[in-house]
This record gives sequence, structure tokens and C-alpha cells, in this order.
Amino acid sequence: METYVIIAVLSILVLVTLKNLLFSTVTQIELEKEIDPNAEPEETTVIREFTPRELSNFNGFDLEKIYIAVKGNVYDVSKGRQFYGPSGPYSNFAGHDASRGLALNSFEMENIRRWDEPIDDLQGLNESELKSLDNWEGMFRGKYPCVGTLVPDPQFENKKDV
Ligand code: HEM
Repeated sequence: METYVIIAVLSILVLVTLKNLLFSTVTQIELEKEIDPNAEPEETTVIREFTPRELSNFNGFDLEKIYIAVKGNVYDVSKGRQFYGPSGPYSNFAGHDASRGLALNSFEMENIRRWDEPIDDLQGLNESELKSLDNWEGMFRGKYPCVGTLVPDPQFENKKDV
């Protein structure tokens, strides 16, 4: 009988110690997270230049990250993978300049330049299409980090516009 009492008391002690240990660890981690003044920002934005050819690698398939250019700026849209990822409805935009497609409300490849074509100068778009593109740009600015700018690749800029 005495042995049972000792085992019971010991078990309770062990359980209480375990609970305290787990609880205090969680609290400490939460506290550290809240007050650490040197914490890195969650997203580190690296501004760099991308030629259309470099941009094309960021299609969520060749490289995991997904980048899209809109009016000369490149956005990291990786968190919108359900939209732009390989099986998403707007996957054609991934790794490309989406400006003309956004302006025309179209994700067809005919409105998206290939990487070996000159950068789209948006010629031929009318006022309301350009306005629509500006609205889309506002959405990208608000939702996704800008990671760089789209720059011409000298090797392909001299090709005749198609
Ligand atoms: C059948 C027609 C379409 C339907 C039903 C549709 C539906 C949707 C829905 C439900 C969303 C999510 C909205 C939200 O998160 O609040 C969305 C977002 C979007 N749609 Fe469409 N869409 C259509 C056509 C198009 C077309 C033709 C384009 C081409 C420009 C397009 C481009 C986009 C873009 C860029 C987003 C934003 C995704 C993001 O948040 O990053 N959609 N669409």
C-alpha cells in the first residue's frame, strides 16, 4: 500500500514538473518573439535588375519563387502561388511581364512577351486599358514585395518588334 502512495506522489511530481517545463518554454519563446529589438523583418526585399530572360526563370517551376513584372517593376508573387503557380489560372504571367495582359484583362500568351523579344513598350493600348493597368499595378504594390526592375537584354532589344 505504501509503495502505491509513493508511486502516485512521484508520478504527480513528474507530471507537474513536465507541465511547468513545457509551459515556461512556450512563454519564453513568445516573449522573445515579442520583444526582440534586433529581429529581422520577415521578408527581405532585394532590389536588383532582371532582364526578361532572367525573369523567366522565376516561374514557380524552374525556380520555386514566382516573379511577375508590371510596368517595369518586378514583384515577388510567391505567396499568390494558387494564382500564378504552375497549375494556377494565371500561370502564364509567372516569370513574365504581365502588363499588357493585365491592361487587356487577358492571360493569353499572345498578350505576353517571350523572353527573347524586346520589352513591351505598351504601344497601342488605349486610355481605359492603361487606367485598368494602373489599377492592377496598385494591387500588386499593395499585396506583393517589389524585388527589382525589368531591364532590356541588349541581345534581344534590337530584334524587330513583333
Ligand atoms: C472567368 C473570368 C474570371 C474569374 C471568374 C476570375 C476570378 C478571380 C478571383 C475569384 C480572384 C481572387 C480575388 C480575391 O482574392 O479577392 C481573381 C484574382 C485575379 N484575377 Fe481573375 N478571374 C477571371 C478572369 C481574369 C482574367 C482574364 C485575368 C487577366 C488579367 C485575371 C487576373 C486576375 C489577377 C491578376 C488576380 C489577382 C491575383 C492576386 O491576388 O495576386 N482574372 N480572379
